[in-house]
Amino acid sequence: MASKKQTFACYAMALLFSAAIVSAQLSTDFYDETCPDALDIIESAVRAAVHKESRMGASLLRLHFHDCFGCDGSVLLDGATSEKNAQPNMNSLRGFEVVDDIKAQLEDACAQTVSCADILAVAARDSVVALGGPTWDVELGRRDGTTSSQDLANSDLPAPSSDLGDLIKAFGNKGLSASDMVALSGAHTIGQARCVNFRDRLYNETATLDATLASSLEPRCPRQAGTGDDNTAPLDPATSYVFDNFYYRNLMLNKGLLHSDQQLFNGGSADAQTKAYASDMAGFFDDFRDAMVKMGGIGVVTGSSGQVRLNCRKAN
Ligand code: HEM
Repeated sequence: MASKKQTFACYAMALLFSAAIVSAQLSTDFYDETCPDALDIIESAVRAAVHKESRMGASLLRLHFHDCFGCDGSVLLDGATSEKNAQPNMNSLRGFEVVDDIKAQLEDACAQTVSCADILAVAARDSVVALGGPTWDVELGRRDGTTSSQDLANSDLPAPSSDLGDLIKAFGNKGLSASDMVALSGAHTIGQARCVNFRDRLYNETATLDATLASSLEPRCPRQAGTGDDNTAPLDPATSYVFDNFYYRNLMLNKGLLHSDQQLFNGGSADAQTKAYASDMAGFFDDFRDAMVKMGGIGVVTGSSGQVRLNCRKAN
């Protein structure tokens, strides 16, 4: 009978082997032959969209994250029961028209070649770069899924009311470590959140919310539920549209906008990493870039599975 040690070794080898398969299926030069202009087309469309409205960079980055709790373009599918209409996404996700525009340009350049899931991955990287953040090589070759589940999005995406343990668990369920979660949360150095997502913190967490920030938020986010729910405030009040490490510096000053943000500096296990990133932007950039590549590999569909959608909003 196999010893426990042998069983563990077999298990570890199987894990390593399956990880190698996933990364072997995606490659940075996937479109070099079939659509050589693909990356340039996406980059210039993202630049133009961010130039028109800086927040769009944040919205495109978030689209990739929400797609990537299974990176198959499913977040883009229209439909009454699709992910778009899940609680974290409805009246909240933005950037669909920018993706439509990129897709139309890519269809003109090379028909049915570049997947919607890959567009999101590249647009996320280009958005970060357009706002001053790090760059990285995006692994490509994802295929698009044909279904989208509102229920899965509701259950799998972390809520802004989550405590640290829930955040670690939600990312852990997707194969991301606690440390990946802290690095990826640095995405909140750009973009905005709606009052409905920070009202509870604003009025009930005064001990851990900077008083000056609180008084600046109150007029935009009245105490009474249902009033001003969609009014927005920057996730990083210091440098809203620059991709830098101010998110972590804010947290050390009790200036996290969401409850889930401040959980990364609340006397718990994420404090040390938050503190390190607050004083080491290059270190944050390195870890963010690695974690984005890792996140971009979650639940990918490759090879002959799935399809390359003609229109990102509906299956072929
Ligand atoms: C750690 C768990 C996370 C939670 C609980 C969370 C939650 C939220 C919430 C509630 C909003 C505001 C939505 C609204 O009010 O309409 C938001 C915005 C945003 N999130 Fe997250 N998020 C998390 C992680 C991430 C990650 C990993 C990324 C990307 C890598 C990301 C990128 C963004 C961006 C860029 C925005 C601003 C979008 C815009 O302005 O359009 N978030 N997030």
